[in-house]
Amino acid sequence: YEVTWNAEEAEKGGYAHFMQKEIFEQPKALRDTLAGRLDLESLEVKLPEIEANLSYYQNLNRIFISACGTAYHAGLVGKYLLEKLVRIPVEIDVASEFRYRDPLIKEGDLLIVISQSGETADTLAALREAKKRGARVLAVTNVVGSSVSREADDVIYTWAGPEIAVASTKAYTTQLLVMYLLALYLGRAKGSIEEKLYKEMVQGLKEIPQKVQEVLDAEAKVIEFAKKHLTKEDAFFIGRGLDFAVSLEGQLKLKEISYIHAEAYAAGELKHGTLALIVKDVPVIALATQEALFEKMLSNIKEVNAREATILGIAFEGKKELAKVTDDQIYLPRVPELLAPILAVVPLQLLAYHMSVLRGNDVDKPRNLAKSVTVE
Ligand code: G6P
Repeated sequence: YEVTWNAEEAEKGGYAHFMQKEIFEQPKALRDTLAGRLDLESLEVKLPEIEANLSYYQNLNRIFISACGTAYHAGLVGKYLLEKLVRIPVEIDVASEFRYRDPLIKEGDLLIVISQSGETADTLAALREAKKRGARVLAVTNVVGSSVSREADDVIYTWAGPEIAVASTKAYTTQLLVMYLLALYLGRAKGSIEEKLYKEMVQGLKEIPQKVQEVLDAEAKVIEFAKKHLTKEDAFFIGRGLDFAVSLEGQLKLKEISYIHAEAYAAGELKHGTLALIVKDVPVIALATQEALFEKMLSNIKEVNAREATILGIAFEGKKELAKVTDDQIYLPRVPELLAPILAVVPLQLLAYHMSVLRGNDVDKPRNLAKSVTVE
């Protein structure tokens, strides 16, 4: 009898791949990122990282966000939240564009850079460009002591723990969480957010790790959908508003590790081109978590349904209408709807993961991609 053991297997803690482990670590990563930033008794958000320079933040003219890949997708949600809750205009660019477009950023502005590794060359260059032009830089990163963390004026850490798989998962959801905390904190400081919404969202954030766990428990449903579409070479993700931002992350995950060609579309744009590609049996993943946009989404879903696409619909519990126009459904537990992205991305991560496994790919180390891109 011989015990075989290797360090890598041990690190995976019983999971088949790092990516799977990291997907399932999300409740803990979220809890760790919330710790100390959410006063559970008073239900107030605290961000000591910013408090010392609060007056600069309260008087901002404009906010810029710059990042790459998955971190950029977290930034898209951030833009939406900051504009909605803080009422300051936000511009967002991928870092490789921001730095070359002679950006109109100056003193009195803020650049938020988001980077899991804190070492992405373009993100670091964007940070330097903004500082050179006199703006303040806030970094959201997962690595203490990283280049980005050392050069930024202020740093808010995500406490996701080490992320090994190339495809980012728990870093993304903790980046989202920081965007919520920041928007709530600044919204409160500026008096731009209604008390009722603030309290609802804070309460929602408190419960979010548990709700993510509930979504993870629905893994079997995702595996079923993945098996059905194993041999497909194209997939489409549609949504509006926050759901569109999450769709972009969903399609990136699928491309990265399953090598299926995937596109995300703002659902209202479908008929301006992409609808031409929607034919019988093409998989479409439709996100419909936002109440004010639900009816509009339903009619977009009907448009793809009429072309006989195979549709997976994602919405909150109770949205029974979804089942009439989609083939499969994933229902998310209720949270205040602005928090939907943290839950809605989880089935998309699981879908990409299982597609990749079922297709026999190297899940943790997809071809041609690196975890951290430190060259330009
Ligand atoms: C690479 C990784 C992605 C990541 C991106 C940005 O492309 O494969 O998963 O989102 O870099 O990385 P960062 O460390 O700056 O978040």
